[in-house]
Amino acid sequence: MQQHLKKAFILLFMAIVGFIIVRSLIVPESFGQYGWYRGNAVNEIKSFNVNNANSTECIDCHQNVYSIWANGSHNAVNCDDCHGSTEGHVDNNRIIPQPANDSKEFCGLCHFRSVARPKDFPQIDPNSGHGEDLKCTYCHNPHKPWFV
Ligand code: HEC
Ligand code: HEC
Ligand code: HEC
Ligand code: HEC
Repeated sequence: MQQHLKKAFILLFMAIVGFIIVRSLIVPESFGQYGWYRGNAVNEIKSFNVNNANSTECIDCHQNVYSIWANGSHNAVNCDDCHGSTEGHVDNNRIIPQPANDSKEFCGLCHFRSVARPKDFPQIDPNSGHGEDLKCTYCHNPHKPWFV
C-alpha cells in the first residue's frame, strides 16, 4: 500500500476509535433502553408532583361558576387549564389561586385560526379585527363563552 494511503487509514482508524471512546464516556447509561432517548427520563418525569385539581373538586364551594361552566361549551376545558394549578387552593382555600390568564394570546392558543384544527372548531382570525383591542373576556364569559 502507498505511504500516503496508509497514513490516511491510520488517521481514519484513530478517529473512529476516538469517537467510540468519547461516545461511551458521554452517552448516559440508560440511553436506548426504550428508544432514541434516555430511559431514566421516564421515571424522572413520573416522579414530578402533579398539582392540578380535577374540576369536580370545585363543585362544593363554587356551585355558581361550576354550574355555568358545566352547561357551557367550555365544559371540556378544565378549570385548571385557565386557573393554573389549584390543588393547593383545594387543600387550603386561604391560598387564593393566581388570577386566570385572560390575555388574547391565551384564548388564541385554542381559538386563533389554524389549518391544523378541525374546520368546525370555533376559530377566529386574529388579524380580522375581531373584538378589536378589547380583551376576549370583555364580551365572552370564559365560563360560558357563547353568552356575551
Ligand atoms: C373548600 C372550598 C373551596 C374549594 C373546594 C375550592 N375553592 Fe376556590 N375559593 C374558595 C374560597 C373561600 C375563596 C375566596 C373567597 C372568594 O373570593 O370567593 C376561593 C377563591 C377562588 C378563586 C378566586 C376568586 C376571585 O374572586 O378572585 C378562584 C379562581 C377559585 N377559588 C377557583 C377554584 C377552583 C378552580 C377550584 C377547584 C379546582 C376551587 N376554587 C375549589 C373556596 C374553595
Ligand atoms: C377558559 C378559561 C377558564 C375556565 C375553563 C374556567 N375559568 Fe374561571 N375564570 C376565568 C377568567 C379569565 C376569570 C376572570 C374573570 C374575568 O376576567 O371575567 C375567571 C374567574 C373565576 C372566578 C372568580 C370570578 C367569578 O366569576 O366568580 C372563579 C371563582 C372561577 N373563575 C372559578 C372557576 C371554576 C370553578 C372553573 C371550573 C369549573 C373555572 N373557573 C373554569 C377563566 C376560566
Ligand atoms: C384549552 C383550549 C381552550 C382555551 C384556552 C379556550 N377555549 Fe374556548 N373553547 C374550547 C373548546 C374545546 C370549545 C368548544 C368547541 C366546540 O364546541 O366544538 C370552546 C368554545 C369557545 C367558543 C364558542 C362557543 C360556542 O358555543 O360555540 C368561544 C366564543 C370561546 N371558546 C371563547 C374563548 C375565550 C374568550 C377564551 C379565553 C378566555 C377561550 N375560549 C379559551 C377550548 C378552549
Ligand atoms: C367586542 C366583543 C367581542 C370581543 C372583544 C371578542 N369577541 Fe369573539 N365574538 C363576539 C361576537 C358578537 C361573536 C359572534 C359573531 C361572530 O362570529 O362574529 C363572537 C364569536 C367568537 C367565536 C366563534 C366563531 C365561530 O365562527 O364559531 C370565537 C371562537 C371567538 N369569538 C373568540 C374570541 C377570542 C379568542 C377573542 C379574543 C381574542 C374574542 N372572541 C373577542 C364578540 C367579541
